[in-house]
Amino acid sequence: MFTKTRLVLFIGLCLIAAAAFAGYDMSRAATDEDEVTYLIGVSQANLTEPWRVAMNEEIAMAAAKHKNIRVIFTDAAQNSQKQKKDVDELLREGIDLLIISPHDAAELTPVVAKAYKKIPVIVLDRAVEGYDYSLYIGPDNKLIGRAAGNLTVDMLGSKGGNVIEIQGLSDSPPVRDRSDGFREVVEKHANIKIAGRIVADWQRDKAEDKTLELLARNPKIDMIFAHNDPMALGAYRAVKKLGRSDIKIIGVDGLSGEDGGLKLVRDGALQGTFTCPIGGKEAMQYAVDILHQEKGIPKKIILRSTKITADNLAEYLQQKQASEEIRPEKKRIVVGFSQVGAESVWRLANSESIKNAASAAKIELRFSEGNQHQDKQIADIRTFIKDGVDVIAFSPVVEYGWDEVLGEAKAAGIPVIISDRTINIDDDRLYTTFIGADFVEEGRKAARWLVDTLPGNNPVNIIELCGTNGSAPAIGRKMGFEEILTAHANFRIMGSETANFTRTEGKKTMLEFLHEFGKDIHVVFAHNDDMALGAIEAIDEYGLRPGQDILVVSVDATKQAFSAIMSGKLNCTVECTPLLGPELMKAIKDYSIGKKLPIKIITAEGIFTKKNAAQEYQWRKY
Ligand code: AHR
Repeated sequence: MFTKTRLVLFIGLCLIAAAAFAGYDMSRAATDEDEVTYLIGVSQANLTEPWRVAMNEEIAMAAAKHKNIRVIFTDAAQNSQKQKKDVDELLREGIDLLIISPHDAAELTPVVAKAYKKIPVIVLDRAVEGYDYSLYIGPDNKLIGRAAGNLTVDMLGSKGGNVIEIQGLSDSPPVRDRSDGFREVVEKHANIKIAGRIVADWQRDKAEDKTLELLARNPKIDMIFAHNDPMALGAYRAVKKLGRSDIKIIGVDGLSGEDGGLKLVRDGALQGTFTCPIGGKEAMQYAVDILHQEKGIPKKIILRSTKITADNLAEYLQQKQASEEIRPEKKRIVVGFSQVGAESVWRLANSESIKNAASAAKIELRFSEGNQHQDKQIADIRTFIKDGVDVIAFSPVVEYGWDEVLGEAKAAGIPVIISDRTINIDDDRLYTTFIGADFVEEGRKAARWLVDTLPGNNPVNIIELCGTNGSAPAIGRKMGFEEILTAHANFRIMGSETANFTRTEGKKTMLEFLHEFGKDIHVVFAHNDDMALGAIEAIDEYGLRPGQDILVVSVDATKQAFSAIMSGKLNCTVECTPLLGPELMKAIKDYSIGKKLPIKIITAEGIFTKKNAAQEYQWRKY
């Protein structure tokens, strides 16, 4: 908490930096100081990009709704060293929470981690490496890149053509992701060639100069994809100077206002843009929740991007306005939930959490179980559509094959929320939001623990017990685990089989592996605790010591897994929380009053070993 005298001192210190941000009213901060309870520091990467000015404006507007909150803004002026100093200064002055939008994510990672040791930190837009922060809010830049790639393919049509990509700062994460997503799509089309790449540091004028140079060298260009609208505008100016009207230009940001992407599309300067949601409003909402020590704060919030062209601009503006109007709460909300099945302790806890949260929120829940079969889940969803429920939520057993039924829900006007497991679908407008874990990161965590636990170069033979084939947790955990192990040649997965997330199959499959490889097995990585517990029984029966002769690492962090850790048979479990009910009901209620939901809400997760399992055991609810 912040005292009156220190606030006045600090405001004095920060006036210069904060004055750079015109939208923030410093005088108001000084006169209302008696009511100040919390001081929030905002470390902004720069204020030359209009998108960042808009971000600060959003934060200031959201903060103004809270009498007891004051915000101090600093501007790093595109300089990581300056941003490090800004954060140090904010910390020295005793801010209660830091919101940071890093200039260079890699360089700022240690600074964020250091701040996070003292106070909550919300990272906005550019994600730092690792998980040393309270909450990340930002766009999915790879999706934005892919969407830009698809629009390029559509616009160039069967004739194809030559494309220039104009990037922001070279090798920064949003640039890498936008570029990877874009190239992933475009490179599948032999008739489209990426004929040039420009790095223009997100700046309009640099983009203009460099586009002029490039077009002088290579005039055979049909389309330009710029990573933001200011650079797209720069490209447009260059193209106009050369009297060319045949080059199509698309950008990213979709801001309103003079020179904003929306106006540029309306005026025909750009043929398209993709909104890059700012997240300032959401950051402030969560900052308040964090300062009030509310439970269930997610780890990551990924905001949805929308494609804007001349065809849907009017409709987009209409929807945008409607989404800013909050409707009164509905008296009765009926939700149809299709659950995967009852395959594991995790799943039972997940079902219970959803049922309890629905009843606490006074939401009428129709709950069905798919017995791990996609056909059954699809039939259940069709029943919900026929019954005309208000919202459909479901945890998909596998990733693929949902397009048709979700198209039917969309046609019936019923919003769909994906819970726990992700889906792989072409059109992400077929669902409203996803709430669940980052399965790839869970796999990475398990592998990092293993690598740290077994240093040196001795060969390490691993058996992997996988979840259901084609399911998001099985795909993601395997991917993350292998990603870390590729850098460690002595770790080898000698056998990998599905055991469907069940204890019985975990035991059976492990016995088969033991009969094949016996003592040569050093480690079992199980995609969930149930399979790990089955494997432990198998190792016991085979006459080896689980946890000693064979290390066992798994995912979920159930109470049973904690007991196994405490008895020395399980070595590590990575958390994947099944308690998604409250967040799901909150999302349903928010949606029903007209609030815009992010495209992904990712839960926070820990990792447990004998060091911390006993301490946590008493608090575990599942
Ligand atoms: O989708 C989450 C996974 O499904 C859990 O890790 C596993 O236990 C469950 O069955």
